[in-house]
Amino acid sequence: MSPYTALLLFAFMIQMSCGTEVTITTGDQLCLYANLRVNFSVLYEVADQKTQVAVFELPEKVTSDESMCAKVVSVLKLNFGDGHSLSIIFSVKDNHYEANLIKFTYNLRDKTVFKDSVSDELQKVKVRPHIPDVELGTCYTCKSKDTIHISPTVNMTLWNVVIQAFISDGAKSQKTTPCPADGPPYPSPTSITTTASTTTTTAASTTTTTAASTTTASTTTASTTAASTTTASTTAASTTTASTTAASTTTASTTAASTTTASTTAASTTTASTTATSNTTTPNATTPTTTPTTPSTPTPTLPTPTTGNFSVTPVNSTDACLLFNVGLRIGYKQENKYVEKNFDSNKAEFSGSCGVNSSDIVLVSDPITFRFTFTNDTKKFRLHALNVTVTTSSGVSFSVANSSLSLWEASLGSSYMCNKEQNFTIDTLSLFTYNLRVQPFGVKKGTFSMAENCKADPESFLVPIVVGVCLLVLIVIVVVAFFIGRKRNMASNYETLN
Ligand SMILES: *[C@@H]1O[C@H](CO)[C@@H](O)[C@H](O)[C@H]1NC(C)=O
Ligand SMILES: *[C@@H]1O[C@H](CO)[C@@H](O)[C@H](O)[C@H]1NC(C)=O
Ligand SMILES: *[C@@H]1O[C@H](CO)[C@@H](O)[C@H](O)[C@H]1NC(C)=O
Ligand SMILES: *[C@@H]1O[C@H](CO)[C@@H](O)[C@H](O)[C@H]1NC(C)=O
Ligand SMILES: *[C@@H]1O[C@H](CO)[C@@H](O)[C@H](O)[C@H]1NC(C)=O
Ligand SMILES: *[C@@H]1O[C@H](CO)[C@@H](O)[C@H](O)[C@H]1NC(C)=O
Ligand SMILES: *[C@@H]1O[C@H](CO)[C@@H](O)[C@H](O)[C@H]1NC(C)=O
Ligand SMILES: *[C@@H]1O[C@H](CO)[C@@H](O)[C@H](O)[C@H]1NC(C)=O
Ligand SMILES: *[C@@H]1O[C@H](CO)[C@@H](O)[C@H](O)[C@H]1NC(C)=O
Ligand SMILES: *[C@@H]1O[C@H](CO)[C@@H](O)[C@H](O)[C@H]1NC(C)=O
Ligand SMILES: *[C@@H]1O[C@H](CO)[C@@H](O)[C@H](O)[C@H]1NC(C)=O
Repeated sequence: MSPYTALLLFAFMIQMSCGTEVTITTGDQLCLYANLRVNFSVLYEVADQKTQVAVFELPEKVTSDESMCAKVVSVLKLNFGDGHSLSIIFSVKDNHYEANLIKFTYNLRDKTVFKDSVSDELQKVKVRPHIPDVELGTCYTCKSKDTIHISPTVNMTLWNVVIQAFISDGAKSQKTTPCPADGPPYPSPTSITTTASTTTTTAASTTTTTAASTTTASTTTASTTAASTTTASTTAASTTTASTTAASTTTASTTAASTTTASTTAASTTTASTTATSNTTTPNATTPTTTPTTPSTPTPTLPTPTTGNFSVTPVNSTDACLLFNVGLRIGYKQENKYVEKNFDSNKAEFSGSCGVNSSDIVLVSDPITFRFTFTNDTKKFRLHALNVTVTTSSGVSFSVANSSLSLWEASLGSSYMCNKEQNFTIDTLSLFTYNLRVQPFGVKKGTFSMAENCKADPESFLVPIVVGVCLLVLIVIVVVAFFIGRKRNMASNYETLN
């Protein structure tokens, strides 16, 4: 090993050792890996209508047990400190994956971070990041600092990022997709990784001296995954050697927080409770995948599923381009028994894309994943394709799909609405929808356009329209009759004059 390589390796080790490292598994297979450093800068209100800025770092010690991996959408959720969390949602498109959404929740009640804050509220902000397409089977890496303006009051700086989502073979890839800001790669850091990856156990004890979190003292992360490429080193400062800090690219796209979130009342309490537990070693973070939520009992006991408000917002835009409110239930046969399951909208993650001719949205809430594809045929839109993937209580996954549907049809520029329960058969699966309202094209200002109701919906607009038309016809008849009568009268008057 040349001295130069040794130096680079040393520099690399230093960089790798001072991040927050998380490994997420499904079953016991690694499916998502992340090692990153994040600084938050949050403006908040103190007494006398003054404001203050809190700067704090994502601690090394986080819990990630609310993270999850699914086929098309994965979620990295890092809970830290007193009720704070950072989530990154990834989705697959063709041979690539991307980060669709970054959500940051901070707890103003945590006075160790937000000294003298007058508010005790939980604040939620989110942004669509600009992380370019990352080839499946490669790690996204970005040493450069990237400052993201999440909202007018929150900035987030990421650096020394190594993330791989949708790991399919249980091991972190040696191949990387570097961010543009890192410029042309240095003497291949990946090859260095290979040399370094022989050591697996880590004892990285770093003291994160944040003005904030009191919890972080010294963390011992024992990563046992075959994939982890961490190395032992004890440094407190981040001496960024051999890394070009190019002008940090800033994505300034703020997502309006209003319409998009599926109701999150349950979420806040869960976050608080999970962070309260001090057991925070990451490796054994089990995803909820394997544990079926409800014992699948026959139909009558199931409550109506909660309606979720889902939406898709394009990159660099604040307004949604697809809106979808729905409560969902599925029914299928398992070992000759008919089973029904509600889709838990409160826990659902979603992502999608809008096109001119086709738009789609993916909804994931373990153990069910839906992909709805809508098409535009110049006058009308309809649900054209549907793919449902389910993991049954016995842990087996199956998926059904139909790409020649013609459901939920309405004129472009309007929305389709059906409040009553509807059921559809997709191959071997029954799908039930409740309080459905969807607009996959032509959404203006992030709100639904006028609705076209499904037939026989109790609140159908048809009745008032029919009544209105009848009234109008009646009025016209009366008016016409009046004029005809008058004309006749006048005509007879002329006759008498003659
Ligand atoms: C976020 O960054 C912008 C631009 O650098 C700056 O003007 C603003 O004060 C920052 N906000 C916070 C809360 O740090
Ligand atoms: C991150 O925040 C810490 C204070 O919590 C500060 O010392 C450090 O310089 C910050 N790093 C960057 C890259 O902003
Ligand atoms: C969902 O959307 C409906 C109608 O657009 C609205 O009445 C309801 O308040 C929304 N729910 C949430 C939790 O945003
Ligand atoms: C942490 O987990 C271990 C093993 O899972 C358990 O024995 C211990 O009681 C837990 N500690 C706390 C504080 O929950
Ligand atoms: C972590 O998981 C492995 C296998 O899944 C198990 O053998 C081990 O006891 C677990 N460790 C803890 C601390 O729960
Ligand atoms: C979004 O904005 C970034 C930076 O402003 C730009 O590089 C990118 O091309 C934009 N993406 C789209 C889809 O417009
Ligand atoms: C949409 O469909 C029309 C006609 O079917 C076609 O001419 C057009 O190229 C398509 N646009 C896109 C973006 O695929
Ligand atoms: C449905 O989606 C899953 C997950 O993306 C995929 O594996 C499967 O092939 C799809 N099914 C069909 C029939 O397209
Ligand atoms: C898809 O659904 C349509 C309409 O319900 C049906 O006619 C067609 O046979 C289905 N296709 C498959 C492959 O099941
Ligand atoms: C599906 O809907 C039809 C009416 O559209 C109804 O007759 C039928 O009972 C429903 N099936 C189930 C399983 O609820
Ligand atoms: C629907 O498609 C047509 C042609 O394919 C396009 O001109 C029109 O803009 C699309 N409508 C919407 C609302 O996207």
